[in-house]
Order: sequence, then C-alpha cells, then structure tokens
Amino acid sequence: MGGYRPGYTQGVRVLETLYWKDGAVHILDQTLLPGRVTYVVCRDYREVAEAIKSMRVRGAPAIGAAAAYGLAVAAQGAPGAGREEVLEAVESAAATLLATRPTAVNLRWAVKRVLARLREAEGDGDLLKRTALAEAERIHAEDVAANKRLGRFGQELVPPGARILTHCNAGALATAGYGTALGVIRAAHTAGKVARVYADETRPFLQGARLTAWELQQDGIPVTVITDNMAGYLMARGLVDLVIVGADRIAANGDVANKIGTYSLAVLAQAHALPFYVAAPLSTLDMQLACGEEIPIEERPAEEVTHCGGLRIVPEGIEVWNPAFDVTPARLVTAIITDAGVAYPPYTESLRRICCDGGA
Ligand code: MRU
Repeated sequence: MGGYRPGYTQGVRVLETLYWKDGAVHILDQTLLPGRVTYVVCRDYREVAEAIKSMRVRGAPAIGAAAAYGLAVAAQGAPGAGREEVLEAVESAAATLLATRPTAVNLRWAVKRVLARLREAEGDGDLLKRTALAEAERIHAEDVAANKRLGRFGQELVPPGARILTHCNAGALATAGYGTALGVIRAAHTAGKVARVYADETRPFLQGARLTAWELQQDGIPVTVITDNMAGYLMARGLVDLVIVGADRIAANGDVANKIGTYSLAVLAQAHALPFYVAAPLSTLDMQLACGEEIPIEERPAEEVTHCGGLRIVPEGIEVWNPAFDVTPARLVTAIITDAGVAYPPYTESLRRICCDGGA
C-alpha cells in the first residue's frame, strides 16, 4: 500500500489513478473510494491482473495503461537479462493480463502496442526492460493528452447553462487522467457552460455514486446523484439538456459498448429528443469489428448484484444475471467525440476517415 499521490486536472488537486515509482506500478484502489484512499503497489504482473479483474482499477483507458505497466513489471521480473528471457516473460504476462476483462478494447490495444514495440526493438534484455517501461509511460501520457483534446472538441457541443446527464464513471479515474465524458464536462465547465451534472448511481458497482460524484465534487462542478431508474422522469421534467457517456469499445459502424444501462439512457434520450453523445479516445475504436454484436460482453459475479456494501439484499438461491456492459446501436448516438475530432452519422464513413486520415 502506498501514500496519497496528487495529480492535477484544471489546476485542481486530484488523485492519480496510477503511476510508476521505484520499480512498481501504484494503483489507486477504486473499490475503496470514496471512503479510503489507498494505493496498491504491484511489483508482480499477477498483482496488476488481479487489480484489473477485481476493478481496483477500472475504466477502459485506465485498464489499458495498467496492463502496459503490468508488462513493464513482467519485463523487470524476467528470470534473466537475455533478450529471449525478457520476451518470454512479457508474452506470458500478456496472456494473463488479456484474460482479465474482455470488453474494453483499450486493454488489448495497449498490450499489443507494448509487445509490438518490444519485438521490433533491437537489443538485449536490459534494453527491452527499458523499452517496456518507456512504452507504458508513453501510453499513459498520450491518454491524458488525448482526453484533453477530446474535451476541447466536445465542449463546443455543450450549450450555455447545460444540465448534463452521465452514466458510470468516465473521468480521470477511468483513464490515465482528465477523463473522456468527464473531460468534456471539465472543459465545458472551464468555459462556464455547465449548470449541473446528473450522475447516475450506476448499479451494481456504483461507479457514478462513488466515483463520478467524488471527482466532480473535487473540481467544484455542481453534481446531483440519481438512481438509475430516475433518468426517465428527470428527462420528462425537462431537467436534462444532453447525455454524455464514455465507451469501452466502438465498432466500425458506430455501435457502442459501455457500462450496463447506457443503452436504456440512449433510448430515453431519443424518446425525449435529447442529444446522446459518446466520448472516447481513438484507442477505444475497434475497426476490426463490423458491428456491436461482435463485441464480447463481460459477465461479472452474482455477488455484485446480490450484495450491496457487503450486505445481502437478494434472497439466497435466487438466480442472477450480471452483464457489465450493453451495446447502444449507432442509430441512437448523436455524435462520437474523439481526440481526432467529432464523428457524425453515418459512422462507417466518419470513423474510417478519423482512423485512416486522422480527422473527422
Ligand atoms: O466496469 P467499468 O467500471 O470498467 O466500466 C467503465 C465504463 O463503462 C466507462 O464508461 C468506460 O470504460 C469509459 S471510461 C473513460
């Protein structure tokens, strides 16, 4: 366990989601927030894998960065300094890290990127160890920069006096820093345009109630927590101007996998003629998948539903279904805000332009 490590969003001190120090990756344990601030210090890639699986670190870009550091840890712990020994250690760690959570493509993207960098690097094991860490640090830094860029693009879509509904946590805690959906909200807040954010509680893991509310409070952005089933009534009362969420994977046609409950919000937004925006870095696009049906959806342990705060709330012996994500069809998405610009329908064309030409 490590001590408090402040970072900065808009000149405001916030906790760093993860960082590298003294040969170890330090991961802020989000399962304990907002009550306790504790960093898990991982000196073994298996500890990083455990932290991802148990959601001590969560959010698509954050688990990508954590996995990249996990490979750096594995490289350092290789049984010898030979090139082949280091490569073997990293490849074996990659298999373990890839098996942790299936939906967020950022995890795969980051692992593949570090592996490719190591395979092309010419040199001995020591050089590979340094290369693995340097690539993880680059992924970390690039994610923060990407979020700031997409925040600037996204805030232009936010009208003055906006009342914004968001789901789950797509903030600094879900990324290497600043956030995607919350990055847009942060940038819009700086521009003086945010009247209030409504944060869905986000059952069963409560990322909205525990993490989004906490993050926005740190930044002095007005936030109201609602339970997930209140969103429709909130919209019907005319209290929401737009919805913005993050993404775990976006298929080539613009279908979006994100935290369970996102699809319901998109349907509600359409019924109330509200814009429904998705904010994500390019590392969340999976252009290999034609549509959302191909996205693997993680199912999590029943205990996350049957228990709340350690207390059983469902009778013993009751069957439970706990998919962690759902897929929102592209037709319900008003725009996809990326770090290379804003994509509009038809997404098959606009996302391809963004990926291939680097612009929307
Ligand atoms: O299960 P989680 O908490 O990892 O799910 C997180 C989300 O669904 C986020 O909205 C998504 O990863 C985007 S984070 C910038």
